[in-house]
Order: sequence, then C-alpha cells, then structure tokens
Amino acid sequence: MPGIVVVGAQWGDEGKGKVTDLLAERADAVVRFQGGNNAGHTIVRGGETWKLHLIPSGILHPGKLCVIGNGVVIDPKVLTDELDGLRERGVDIDALRISANAHLIMPYHLMLDHAGEARLGKLQIGTTRRGIGPCYADKAARLGIRMQDLLDEKILKQKIVAALEPKRLSLRPYAKDPALDLQAMTEEYLVYGHRLQRLITDTTRLVHERLDAGQKVLFEGAQGTLLDIDHGTYPFVTSSNPVAASACIGAGVGPKDIDEIWGVAKAYVTRVGAGPFPTEIDGPLSDELRERGGEYGTTTGRSRRVGWLDLVALRYAARLNTLTALAVTKLDVLSSFDRLKVCTSYRGAEEVEFEHFPYHQTMLHHAVGQYEELPGWREDLSECRTESDLPSAAREYLQFMSQFVGVPVALVGVGPGRDAVIWTEAGGGDQAGTEVGTERGTGTECGTPRAAASKAAASKAAASKAAASKAAASQSATPAAAG
Ligand code: IMP
Repeated sequence: MPGIVVVGAQWGDEGKGKVTDLLAERADAVVRFQGGNNAGHTIVRGGETWKLHLIPSGILHPGKLCVIGNGVVIDPKVLTDELDGLRERGVDIDALRISANAHLIMPYHLMLDHAGEARLGKLQIGTTRRGIGPCYADKAARLGIRMQDLLDEKILKQKIVAALEPKRLSLRPYAKDPALDLQAMTEEYLVYGHRLQRLITDTTRLVHERLDAGQKVLFEGAQGTLLDIDHGTYPFVTSSNPVAASACIGAGVGPKDIDEIWGVAKAYVTRVGAGPFPTEIDGPLSDELRERGGEYGTTTGRSRRVGWLDLVALRYAARLNTLTALAVTKLDVLSSFDRLKVCTSYRGAEEVEFEHFPYHQTMLHHAVGQYEELPGWREDLSECRTESDLPSAAREYLQFMSQFVGVPVALVGVGPGRDAVIWTEAGGGDQAGTEVGTERGTGTECGTPRAAASKAAASKAAASKAAASKAAASQSATPAAAG
C-alpha cells in the first residue's frame, strides 16, 4: 500500500504541516510535489515551533527520505537559509534529496511578481511575491532554469542569457535599468549549486525504488484545492496544481501508485489574497475568529480573511481530489459560539440558489453563502483525545461535515501541538499513530478511511443536503460512521 497524498481542501493554510508530520511518522519517504516558498507549514513539536517553506515536513523525522520533487519551484536562497536554520537547531538533513528537474526561482522572477502586481493595481491577485507565477510561466515557456543547470557553469550562463533579455523588456516600465547583472547572477547561483550539489539527484527513480519495494511514500501538497490554477478561483489562484492528481506529475509516479488521499480542511475557512470568498465574515466576528485562530500568514504575515465552513466548496474539493479521508483542523477555535453557521448552498445574482461550486467566474463573484445553523459549544476542546471526549455539538458538527461531503473524518485537530489530535474510528482510533498508512489503512475493514470512503461513494444520498440535515438531527452516530 504505498502512496498517500495529503492536500489542502480549501484555500490553503488548512494545517497540512501538522497532518503531514503525523502521517510521516509511519511513512518511509515524504515527497513535496508542487508550489514553492509561497507555502508555509507550521509544526509544533515538544514545545518547539518549526516553520518550513520548502523542505518537506518529513525532515523532522530522522532518517526518512525527504524529497523536493520536480513539480516544486525552488528559490535556492530560501532553501539554503532553511537548511542552515534546521542544521543550527540540530536537525539531520542528510536524508534530503532535490529533483534535478525542479525549476529555479531567479531574481528576475521576484521582480516580475512585484511588477505584475503593481501593474494590476486594484485588480491585483495578492500573490506572496515570491516569484512563483513568473517561474512557472518560464517553465511553460521553456525558458526555465533547473536545479541540474546549477552544476554546469556554461549551461547555466547560456540559459540565464536566453531568459534575461525578455525579462529586461518586461521590467523596463518599472525600472529603467533593472539590476540584472548576468555575471553576478551566474556566480551567485553557482555558489548555490556547490552547496546543494550533494542533494541534487533523480528523485523520481528514488521514489520508484521505494514504491516498488512496498514502502510507504507520503506525497505532501502545498496551498489548497481552491487555489488550483485549473480548478480553483482563477485568476485568484496560485500557478501550480495543488490537487491530488498533481502528486503524480510533480513526483513522477502514476495514479495507481496512490492509495489514500487525505484532504485537510479547517473547521471554518480562511483565505489570503484577493478573490471570491462566498462565506466571508466581516466586522468584529471576523476579528474574533482571526485572533482565536491566529490567522496570520506563515509566509507573509498577512492577516487572513475568515469565513464560515463552506461545505459546497469542500464537497467540490472532495470530488476533485477523490478524497478518502478528511482531517479537520482547528475545531477548538470554534469553542465560543452558541450557534455555528455552515454553508450548504450559494445564492447568486437574481436570487438564484445553487448547490454546486460554480465554474463561471462571474457567478462565483456574486455567490453568497446560504447557511444552516448548528448548535455551538463553549467547552475547551484542547484536552480531548477521543471522539467521546468531545461535546455532542462538536461531534454533530463533524458528522454534518462528513455526511455532506461524503468523506469520513479520520483526524481532528484540537490544538496546535502534534498531540492535540483525535484519531476517529475512521482514522484507526487511538491505534492510528501506529496504523495509519499500514495495510490496515488500505484494506476492506470497516472504519478505515478507504472502506468508509467507498461506503460513502456507494451511498450518494449521504452527500445530499437532505441527508446532512437528517444527520444533524441525529445525536448518536460518530463521524466515523458517517460515511
Ligand atoms: P502566489 O502563489 O504567490 O502566486 O499567490 C497566488 C495566490 O495564492 C495568492 O492569493 C496567495 O495569497 C495564495 N497563496 C499562495 N500560497 C499560499 C499558501 O501557502 N497558503 C495560502 N494562500 C496561498
């Protein structure tokens, strides 16, 4: 049972770092497959906080193969700084490998990202300004420079020359003489090449070897499904594909190598940057939720927009990714409301109501969440470790979510620490720390994510609004039973 993918099921920042860290414990290798240092994964372990941007969370598990795949775009300055930071804190980085085919973020990509946003003015996307979009654009235009090019001075120089002239022209309206010195840039990047040389390799083959030997490989996504360049809220998206299918392309494996797909979703929703957000909350309530959840970007420090749980969008994400399990994070943050709203449909222009995530940008921009209200709870959840420790209203909330989306909840986050989680029955119960990602997780037994997910698929009614309402009324079933 080799491949498990972890993806964000909302607009990013769902808490993938923590979930990956937990699943990595039982994996033999962890592979990052898309995005770049626009991502920021925060992991809290043993009272220490780790913020990773490029290096897979698996690095905190000594001896596990950790791969930055070909689908990732790499700013070598950020990568070398991150490596230095980890080394200083005593983390062994010997098991890290970087795909020779991964593309490099160059200084002009950063400049173009800034200039592009400046040009858009009020229409700007709100990118992280890390050069991600321009780097992927060069990759598609076949002007990209890859990790392997760092190891050959002549080729590196040739490629920089080819890429530089069009960039000078594009940047001219913003800077008379953009600081793009061929020699200085080549030298700087050669130094990175020397430093990273030992880590650059054919990672696709390494991953194949692990999979073929029956080892467990965890594929770690960045950003979230709704930021996907094809399926997200275009043009307010990132420039890669954060959906599960992208693990195949960004690591070099086939769909049959993937066995489980975990979607990480917050118990509410956040978004950074511009773009439609049908369940956005304004005013003091949004400030309260933002403060309670510490909703400030790991990468840019920007305050995140916050909203009620959007089940229309989550169901769309579940289908796009064919999720087999949901990891619901930050349930504890909701512990201060008498009633909780969950969005089960949208209302568009001319009062039209619809239940599917709209493909059309104009419809999406006009979409306003329509809600059902569920009972809230005020108890502190941070010490809950089993489903039965949760107040019944919190269990109902999870059950409603799971039934509406048609995917079992396997894991629930109730605090920042890695131990502040509940493994539900669907996630293997309290044995999960040792069982998830083993044969048990793939089998036909009831209660495994896969078994529960196929049950969910067999019963499409479970995903309907009517079933969800019914489920909300029922007190007894656990989220695990929901599928
Ligand atoms: P870019 O990826 O920097 O080009 O930014 C494009 C959009 O994706 C912007 O709205 C960003 O705020 C958003 N974005 C990129 N990376 C992340 C992330 O890791 N979490 C949340 N939003 C992100």
